[in-house]
Amino acid sequence: MGQPEHPTALVTGGNRGIGRAITAGLVASGHRVVIGVRDISAGEVAARQIGAARAVALDLQAPAGFSAVLADIGGVDVLVNNAGVLIETSMIEDPGGFHTSVQVMMLGPFQLIRGVVPHMRAQGWGRIVNVSSGWGSFAEGLAGPGAYGVAKAGLNALTKALVRDLPPGVKINAMCPGWVRTRMGGPAAPRSAQEGAETALWLAQLPRNGPTGGMFRNRKPVAW
Ligand SMILES: NC(=O)c1ccc[n+]([C@@H]2O[C@H](COP(=O)([O-])OP(=O)(O)OC[C@H]3O[C@@H](n4cnc5c(N)ncnc54)[C@H](OP(=O)(O)O)[C@@H]3O)[C@@H](O)[C@H]2O)c1
Repeated sequence: MGQPEHPTALVTGGNRGIGRAITAGLVASGHRVVIGVRDISAGEVAARQIGAARAVALDLQAPAGFSAVLADIGGVDVLVNNAGVLIETSMIEDPGGFHTSVQVMMLGPFQLIRGVVPHMRAQGWGRIVNVSSGWGSFAEGLAGPGAYGVAKAGLNALTKALVRDLPPGVKINAMCPGWVRTRMGGPAAPRSAQEGAETALWLAQLPRNGPTGGMFRNRKPVAW
């Protein structure tokens, strides 16, 4: 047991944006990549285009379906919690937007992590990457929209706290992709999706002596 030769990776929101670039990078480095998508027919087309093994229907707002999806994949070695939503309304005026943000970017990732850990524990190896944001960092002022920042701060806290509970051989890290040209980031962003994916790809393939429980941007630790 230990690191598989061709690890199976699950990338949530792998159909477009940064998740698509992460998927392409993992495929290029020999992973069997499954993309989690909301629209399965569009997702299957995307999977073929990127060279992913397959797409699975995975809506972060429907956690009741997670265990069936994970059983169907049959053991996830690398989990990339990438799916995200940027809801910019007031948390007071739009509590539903807050709940959606927390479900998609904190509770959903937590539920998926719990789902993949038994396989990682049995194998003695696993990598978990949480695609976060500087907007979830207290040190950077929680500067973005409230619901988004609180959800990402929660994801960051999970990343740090879960280190104590994860089995040996399993590493978990968060990363900030910077400001990236995607549907979320908009056309004015300075970075390409490939540039935004780079640190996530590094964290997904960390060697045994790599870091765990940290937050990174451009492969460098950043303050939470
Ligand atoms: N772009 C930036 O500048 C930037 C900066 C910092 C952090 N990030 C983070 O990077 C990650 C990727 O963002 P992006 O820029 O690539 O955004 P994007 O192009 O808007 O893509 C978002 C992805 O998340 C998926 N998604 C949204 N809600 C979902 C749900 N309920 N269940 C499953 N999938 C869902 C979308 O699926 P559909 O296609 O079905 O909508 C899509 O695949 C996010 O976590 C984001 O917060 C981005």
